[in-house]
Amino acid sequence: MTVSTIGSVLMLPPGEEVTLRGWVHRIRTSGKIAFIVLRDHTGLLQATVRKGGVPDIDFNAVGAASVESSIIVTGIVASDPRAPGGMEIRCTTFTLVGPADAFPITEYQSEELLLDNRHLWVRSRNMAAIMKIKATMLQGAREWLAAADFTEVTPPVLTQNVCEGGTTLFSLKYFDRQAYLSQSAQMYLEALCYSLGNVYSLTPSFRAEKSRTPRHLTEYWHLELEEAWIDNRGNMEVQEELVSAMVQAVLGSRRDELEMLGRDVEPLKDVMPPFPRMRYSQVLEDLKGRGFDIEFGDDLGAVEERATTQDRTVPVFVTNYPKQCKAFYMKEDADDPDTYACADLLAPEGYGEIIGGSERETDLDALLARMRAQDISLEPYQWYLDLRRYGSIPHSGFGMGIERMVRWVCGLEHIRDAMPFPRTINRIYP
Ligand code: 4AD
Ligand code: MG
Repeated sequence: MTVSTIGSVLMLPPGEEVTLRGWVHRIRTSGKIAFIVLRDHTGLLQATVRKGGVPDIDFNAVGAASVESSIIVTGIVASDPRAPGGMEIRCTTFTLVGPADAFPITEYQSEELLLDNRHLWVRSRNMAAIMKIKATMLQGAREWLAAADFTEVTPPVLTQNVCEGGTTLFSLKYFDRQAYLSQSAQMYLEALCYSLGNVYSLTPSFRAEKSRTPRHLTEYWHLELEEAWIDNRGNMEVQEELVSAMVQAVLGSRRDELEMLGRDVEPLKDVMPPFPRMRYSQVLEDLKGRGFDIEFGDDLGAVEERATTQDRTVPVFVTNYPKQCKAFYMKEDADDPDTYACADLLAPEGYGEIIGGSERETDLDALLARMRAQDISLEPYQWYLDLRRYGSIPHSGFGMGIERMVRWVCGLEHIRDAMPFPRTINRIYP
């Protein structure tokens, strides 16, 4: 038995015989005929089962097929203007594989119920579309990175190092020691770029975000790069090329999925390098001009980023943040010593930060002074400091939040829908 997919059947002429496997999306039966909308991973198709058209034992089984039952049907492709998509399968056999209890998800459901039933809701067409787009984005990223001669590496997730500040750490007992779930692979990538040149990793990162926001998860997928011999300018060039490649990959093969999500693709077509660059101080002046009460040294939050990006279609780099906004490992900008040689990349249409990156401090004394000033215990960082003791080189890197990217590209209201099983402050089930 060769089994077809719905997507391939939709291309066939009427009269062909096919076998399909899938789940009952909808079913309507009268005494003599059943109309089933069948779902597989490629789409939906109507299958009709007539009394007399299939063996009696098969027709009786149709009566037990409810929504989300799994079935196998064989039948003849026919055109039918009344069927969704204008085609249907007229069944000659029907097999009920896995009957379904009354499905807990019906048409109008609260967000909470959908989250409680996430293991079933992942079957929805929207969730499937988002996951396909996400996969295409990751594939686009990997292809671009391979072509640009980046080596994929596998840093640890259990660590003793705090990369992005103590307030969002998940700590755990590591036998008789204290350890953390990684917030960022950056420090390990720094070590590895001394060995391999340009490196990247795709790992889960963890942040104990204690507030509910539409752009924070406690567990997210982090694409991080580290580049030897590159300054912050070169770092930004890599970012704009990579982001564009990911967006273009989606436009190339996931138009149907974007359309299903109601995403306007027009603005995405503009996502081509180079992206505009603005200094933090410039952004500050803009915001003040619009009535924001903000001073040099204040970080840009969701509201400020939304105001900065809502009228744009192309991402924008914000460079030269004041030192007090950013982490200790960044390199001071020699021409503007109150700031770091760093950039955040903000997604357009109001979405805000998708990437944080910088050139790294290579001066051992500068690094030590900053760590002491911030009360960072040096002991767990000796290995990291060694990188400045043994053949230090200029290097830069960045981290991209994959779900932040997906949220923007898919036009999602909430970042949790960029994850099949999202983890947030009040959710770890299922
Ligand atoms: O800006 P962040 O904190 O930078 C770093 O972790 C650097 N050490 C990365 C590096 O240079 N290798 O995080 C990087 C990105 C953010 O721009 C954002 O897209 C994403 O990670 N991110 C989150 N995504 C979802 N939920 C959260 N709680 C996130 N926190 C950060
Ligand atoms: Mg950041």
